[in-house]
Amino acid sequence: MSSIDKREQSHCQDIPNPVLYTMEKGRKGMLIRQETSKDYNAVYNLVKEAFASAEHSDGNEQDLVAALRNGAAFVPELSLIAEIDGIIAGHILFTEAKVGNDIVLVLAPLSVLPEFQKRGIGSALIKEGHKIARELGYQYSLVLGSETYYPRYGSLPAEQFGIEVPDGMPSVNFMAIKLQDNAKPVSGAVTYAKEFGI
Ligand SMILES: CC(C)(COP(=O)(O)OP(=O)(O)OC[C@H]1O[C@@H](n2cnc3c(N)ncnc32)[C@H](O)[C@@H]1OP(=O)(O)O)[C@@H](O)C(=O)NCCC(=O)NCCS
Repeated sequence: MSSIDKREQSHCQDIPNPVLYTMEKGRKGMLIRQETSKDYNAVYNLVKEAFASAEHSDGNEQDLVAALRNGAAFVPELSLIAEIDGIIAGHILFTEAKVGNDIVLVLAPLSVLPEFQKRGIGSALIKEGHKIARELGYQYSLVLGSETYYPRYGSLPAEQFGIEVPDGMPSVNFMAIKLQDNAKPVSGAVTYAKEFGI
């Protein structure tokens, strides 16, 4: 049995509206669905493993996910899992934040198991997350991350929207996407969920 086979398997019962994707670079099907409480352990291990070899990590991303789930900024519909053959291979979380007095979303963290990377899983999670966020009526989603990765999915430097770059964050890495064509302009400072400690 491979190390992947031994991983905690996900639970396919009671899953609201799972989405079946064809992977962009692989052959197998991928299921994207909302996380349930049965997935928490697997997601904890997945986030820890994904960030263990990440370029930027404080080593606590898995604890951040656990803390955010218990906080006021958590949006259950926007904690999503990617499954490959029943293995939880990827996870994405969007939480509520504010720009000035307006509610927006923050994408963080995004995690894909190292052995499943570069197969389109991160891409599919971002696209599905943005789709659900649009349906829920959110207007903007912010992200701190790679300036070569997130622009592939429509993110632009947040400054272009009038969003202030938080102290200590490189402006080129602090991006936002407008989720609705008719989104009203936002401006001002960003207030993250307190669990981020920013
Ligand atoms: C970043 C991450 C989620 C991407 O997931 P993925 O499933 O491999 O992404 P996709 O397959 O959709 O896209 C792969 C592409 O993104 C690129 N990419 C991956 N991570 C990148 C990064 N940190 N910076 C720039 N490009 C990156 C790959 O080089 C690849 O490019 P290619 O299509 O030209 O070959 C994954 O690498 C991961 O979990 N990394 C560790 C945790 C992390 O850094 N999370 C992001 C925090 S902002």
